[in-house]
Amino acid sequence: MALVIIRQDGKIDLWKEALLAQQPGLEVYSYLENHPKDKIEMALVWKHPNGSLADYPNLKLIASSGAGVDFIFEDDTVPENLPITRVVDDMLAKDMSEHVLAVIFSHLKNLDRYRINQTKGIWKPMQYNRISDFTVGIMGLGALGKELATDLVKYGFKVQGWANSKKDIHGVSCFAGESGFSGFLETTQILVCLLPLTNATTGILNKELFKQLPKGAFVINVARGGHLVDEDLLEMLNNDHLSGAGLDVYHQEPLPMEHPFWNHEKIQMTPHYASVSDTSSVVPQILENYDRLQKGSPLLNEVVMDKGY
Ligand code: GLV
Repeated sequence: MALVIIRQDGKIDLWKEALLAQQPGLEVYSYLENHPKDKIEMALVWKHPNGSLADYPNLKLIASSGAGVDFIFEDDTVPENLPITRVVDDMLAKDMSEHVLAVIFSHLKNLDRYRINQTKGIWKPMQYNRISDFTVGIMGLGALGKELATDLVKYGFKVQGWANSKKDIHGVSCFAGESGFSGFLETTQILVCLLPLTNATTGILNKELFKQLPKGAFVINVARGGHLVDEDLLEMLNNDHLSGAGLDVYHQEPLPMEHPFWNHEKIQMTPHYASVSDTSSVVPQILENYDRLQKGSPLLNEVVMDKGY
């Protein structure tokens, strides 16, 4: 039994070293080196080349090294009926929360707009905003959404959340399902998307949704580019219904230079950096699942295939 790491971002050695540091002697290979394909039972993947998972006749488990698994479902050559696991990690959730808090504070205190004015030599105090004036609405109340909601409550924001099923989070008004969606949107001044990308959520950040937000709302997408209809966001920013957006994820990454987001004054961009799996924090759950696979025990953080996350 052996494990293969498949990713294209130059981080294979980092993951290999982290795995070996916590389990010396583990039989682990990079997909780029010569390796015994019939021995591979577990693949640790992140945006693998399409088709590469079909190469392993005895593969029993696909483990995403991030929270998202959408890239695995997008590859229709992945062998069917194999279990898939995702990462659920406290550090990943904390990092995401810190990033979103930074974007929210930058918006609240107009730091992005003051920076633009500075480059133009404009001295122009803007409206002063306070935490207590704002309701933040989080779409998606999984591990990441819950952590962010709890931190926002600690800071004194009014916080509400929307998810598929009703959640109970201290200090957070929780809405659920289609029937709860409009009520959630009507009162959300800062919208944060932390949903998994599935067939049901693709394109959910669209004109119809934006229109239901109050005028001047701010939109943050730190989930996946596929949630957002780019043209709809641009239209609603340009007609001043939305005051701005903070984006970390895009349909195509890196975002092509000709994309209108690059030079839009109301868009704060970061390069898919909000929260990235830390190897030493994530490796224990990967090794635990490797062990469980050997023993035939139930896996940690297994994806529910019908839900797609
Ligand atoms: C990052 O985008 C992740 O899914 O972990």
